[in-house]
Amino acid sequence: MSGNRTLTMIKPNAVANNHIGGIIAMIEAGGFKVVAMKKMKLSPELAGKFYEVHKERPFYDELCEFMSSGPIIPMILEKENAVADYRELIGSTDPAEAAEGTIRKKYAKSKGENAVHGSDSDENAALESAFFFSETERF
Ligand code: GTP
Ligand code: MG
Repeated sequence: MSGNRTLTMIKPNAVANNHIGGIIAMIEAGGFKVVAMKKMKLSPELAGKFYEVHKERPFYDELCEFMSSGPIIPMILEKENAVADYRELIGSTDPAEAAEGTIRKKYAKSKGENAVHGSDSDENAALESAFFFSETERF
C-alpha cells in the first residue's frame, strides 16, 4: 500500500523570486495538507548529504552549490498516494518537458533550478522527512 506523506522543498531560486505563496497555493489546491514546514539554509555539506545518491553524477557539485545558495522551505505534505500524486503535480525535472499546470512548468527556470523537490518513494519520503524535522515536528 502506498503511503500518505511526501517531502518537498521549495528550492532557493523559487524562494528568492517570491514564489513561496504561489507554490503553497498550488500544493493546497492540489489536495495536499502541509503537516510540517520551516525556512532554513543548507550548508554545502548538508546539501551534499541530502543528495548523496547523486554523488557520482556530473551535476552533483553544481546541485550542492545551488541548493546551499539561499534559503529553502522544506515541508511534509499529506494526501492519499502522496508520493506519486505530488510528482505529478510538480512535473518533469526539466521544465521544458513539464506538463501545463504543473509547479515546475510555472516556476522552474532550468533542469538544475527547478523550483521544488519531491520524494521519489515512500521509503525516501520517510528518510527525507526525518532529515529535516524532529519527531515532535512531524506529528
Ligand atoms: P528532485 O525532486 O529534486 O529529486 O528532482 P527529480 O527527482 O525530478 O530529479 P533527480 O532526482 O533525477 O535529480 C535531482 C536534482 O538534481 C534535480 O531536481 C535537479 O535540481 C538536479 N539535476 C538533475 N539533472 C540535472 C542536470 O542535468 N543538470 C543540473 N544542473 N542539475 C540537474
Ligand atoms: Mg529525485
